[in-house]
Amino acid sequence: MKLSEIPTPALVVDAAAMQRNIDRMAAYFAGRACKLRPHFKAHKTPEIARRQLLAGQCTGLTCATVGEAEVVVAEGIETEILIANEVVGPGKAARVAALARRSRIVVAVDSEYGAADLAEAARAAAVEIGVVVDVNVGMPRCGIAPGEDAVALAGRVAETPGLLLRGMMGYEGHVVGIADRADRAPRAEKTMERLLSTVELARGRGLPVDIVSAGGTGTYDITGALEGITEVQAGSYVLMDTAYARLDLPFEQALSVLATVLSRPRPEQCAADAGLKACAVDHGNPEVKGVPGASVLFLSDEHATIALPGECVLAPGDRIELWPSHIDPTINLHDVLYAIDGDEVVATWPVAARGYIEQRGR
Ligand SMILES: Cc1ncc(COP(=O)(O)O)c(C=O)c1O
Repeated sequence: MKLSEIPTPALVVDAAAMQRNIDRMAAYFAGRACKLRPHFKAHKTPEIARRQLLAGQCTGLTCATVGEAEVVVAEGIETEILIANEVVGPGKAARVAALARRSRIVVAVDSEYGAADLAEAARAAAVEIGVVVDVNVGMPRCGIAPGEDAVALAGRVAETPGLLLRGMMGYEGHVVGIADRADRAPRAEKTMERLLSTVELARGRGLPVDIVSAGGTGTYDITGALEGITEVQAGSYVLMDTAYARLDLPFEQALSVLATVLSRPRPEQCAADAGLKACAVDHGNPEVKGVPGASVLFLSDEHATIALPGECVLAPGDRIELWPSHIDPTINLHDVLYAIDGDEVVATWPVAARGYIEQRGR
């Protein structure tokens, strides 16, 4: 199949650029104490996860949901999975326990409620579930307060039958996107002090803290260079997006939304068939690849309305590519990724974990 034959809208991956990103990240962690645990949520695509693991330097995979972990296990990917997120809600702990029968699973916990729920499911299934205590390092989302609160929770996990305390995590999502490294690095380091001092406190109380997990694409070589961090949970680096491309990172944009021009109603404007149902805009409108002077005005359900310079020759039927601003929610909108080498489609990779898989069953 040729690029020109792909039905649009569609996601295309420059397979060589993606592989260079994978290799660059693996090269960074080679020879370091800290390793990589690539975040599966970025792409939800087993074929990409396999390539990330094959490149080496990985402690396992990171997942955001139980459903993602289920897909990884169902695909036969043998590695340790960290669900770097709280698992709370009906049936979820039992699903984690079922996974723990087949694979090595570690789950983030930030409350006694969450720990008790997991422990009960683990005991019912006669398994042990690994736990990392999720420490709030400043991002206003999940995570227990650093220091005594986190250590107390770790202590309770350690003495709870069915749970195995593996370590601690803290995601500095509020600093990973800071554009200027000179600003990003000290803020990330300061943020990580909250995690590292909590780890020290826990160890001082005799608690086993083997995993110290943190970091993202914007901080992989800042957080990843700190003594005491054992792994980095970066995800976006593998395909990149325009938000991360603004940072000074050595990774290439490898994912674009392929679209067809539907209409050129005016010289200064065209409409293409990639709208909100093909491309997420939470980090801004996508950018038009390789068309000088073109810029996306807005997306509606099935359309991208694009401003064009008058001399641009784009006409109905022509193809364009859009760089998404945020890959995770964009990929989640698609069933497959088309891996391309120039004009050739070399593979079609199912986005096997897209959506909420419990809604359609497996
Ligand atoms: C818990 C957690 N870890 C790591 C990441 C890193 O992802 P990325 O490399 O895409 O910044 C994220 C992204 O949102 C996250 O939520």
